[in-house]
Amino acid sequence: MPNAVVIYASETGNTESVAKQIAAGLKDENIDVTLKNITDADVKDLSDYDLILLGSSTWGDEEKELQTDMVDFYEELENLDLTDIPAAAFGCGDSSYTHFCGAVDLLEDRLEQIGARLLDEGLRVDDQDDDEIDVRAWAREIATRFSKGL
Ligand SMILES: Cc1cc2nc3c(=O)[nH]c(=O)nc-3n(C[C@H](O)[C@H](O)[C@H](O)COP(=O)(O)O)c2cc1C
Repeated sequence: MPNAVVIYASETGNTESVAKQIAAGLKDENIDVTLKNITDADVKDLSDYDLILLGSSTWGDEEKELQTDMVDFYEELENLDLTDIPAAAFGCGDSSYTHFCGAVDLLEDRLEQIGARLLDEGLRVDDQDDDEIDVRAWAREIATRFSKGL
């Protein structure tokens, strides 16, 4: 069975909750999933997985800022080679800020920079959005694209 890792950085639990739904969606598609808080994750572990999902909420305002726990990991990522490894980014934010989900932009930029193959546009979940985004469906779509080698 292919395996995936879902790593999240979350201050107040929103991105953690999204990460759990993503893990559930991937499991629906028969992917073996490891869910990790960034505080328990090491960049070196990423090479153990066939599919990588990275998530962070956005902080700051003037600039795009990752949730604090993600900062060191993000810097270390730069030295990793993920050529052709399927990946996607996700995170929660608030569209009343200048850089809505800027952390997801940062994660996507870094993943592309180190060669990863982004399977879909990152998932950006808005605090302001009354309608629930179907996170699990997004994850199932990621799994489908992964399985088809898209
Ligand atoms: C001080 C502060 C700054 C924030 N800056 C941004 C921002 O620049 N862009 C954004 O999209 N959301 C911003 N947010 C909103 C959070 O990212 C959002 O509430 C998110 O759901 C928190 O997720 P978490 O619980 O996983 O940390 C900010 C929130 C606070 C309190």
